Amino acid sequence: MRLKDKVILVTGGGMGMGRAAALAFAHEGASVVIADVNDEAGNATAQAIQQSGGAAHFVHADVSRAADCEAMVAAALNRFGKLNVCYANAAVQLVGQDARAHELSEEIWDRTMAINLKGAWLTCKYAIAAMLKSGGGSIIIAGSPTGMSGAGAGFTAYSSSKGGVHGLMRVMAADYARDGIRVNALIPGPMKTPLTKDLFADPTVAEALARRVMLGRLGEAEDVTGLLVFLASDESAFCTGGFYMADGGFTAL
Ligand SMILES: NC(=O)c1ccc[n+]([C@@H]2O[C@H](COP(=O)([O-])OP(=O)(O)OC[C@H]3O[C@@H](n4cnc5c(N)ncnc54)[C@H](O)[C@@H]3O)[C@@H](O)[C@H]2O)c1
Repeated sequence: MRLKDKVILVTGGGMGMGRAAALAFAHEGASVVIADVNDEAGNATAQAIQQSGGAAHFVHADVSRAADCEAMVAAALNRFGKLNVCYANAAVQLVGQDARAHELSEEIWDRTMAINLKGAWLTCKYAIAAMLKSGGGSIIIAGSPTGMSGAGAGFTAYSSSKGGVHGLMRVMAADYARDGIRVNALIPGPMKTPLTKDLFADPTVAEALARRVMLGRLGEAEDVTGLLVFLASDESAFCTGGFYMADGGFTAL
């Protein structure tokens, strides 16, 4: 059990890669707090873990709200007594609304930034405050190839939010390294999750993206869990400020 005795908070743990991460963390012995705006999905993840003998707790949280982020960290401390790892995973990609810069509305820009960038910062703000008191921890943030290359063409708000998330990861890694808090980013490739359902509903888009993946296929949510368990565990004790790709070679091509 690589995560025995660790308490891990996963935002957006109700669906997609957040759900897969929560299940994988629990499988490795962690107690998992799942935070999500979708109560049904979040509760279902917690129940799946409990039914297989693990420890899990669901808390309703919208990561764009400071009070919710403070409360989800408090819930982890109340329920399990500490917080060792935080996976800031929750994000939205507003397919059909996000657009090229001159076509994008202020509302969609603001909504995307509030959840993806401000939400990642608020999640980390309260998680780090808890970790500082207990002597350290590991923060993982979900980044994206769209924040590193032109892969996000047509998605100005989403790509910009992920570029911001990458900067947030770096500055927090520098600021808290001497406090024993490591901060890293997971970079998934194009993955088949609820986030991309509408995007991949068009087979030409799905096929074009799959062709850009060196390994020749779209990813599944479970394709990222090996890296996440590594980054959450003490095996990654010398890793901070890094980008960790589970993208089938998408970003490098
Ligand atoms: N799917 C991809 O191809 C892909 C590629 C690169 C990066 N990513 C990133 O990986 C992460 C996970 O993506 P996914 O595809 O699993 O997403 P998903 O849409 O499948 O799941 C996201 C989860 O976050 C929750 N959520 C949404 N808004 C929230 C909010 N305001 N507060 C709390 N929870 C909220 C949703 O209810 C859902 O359970 C995201 O940060 C995403 O940007 C995804």
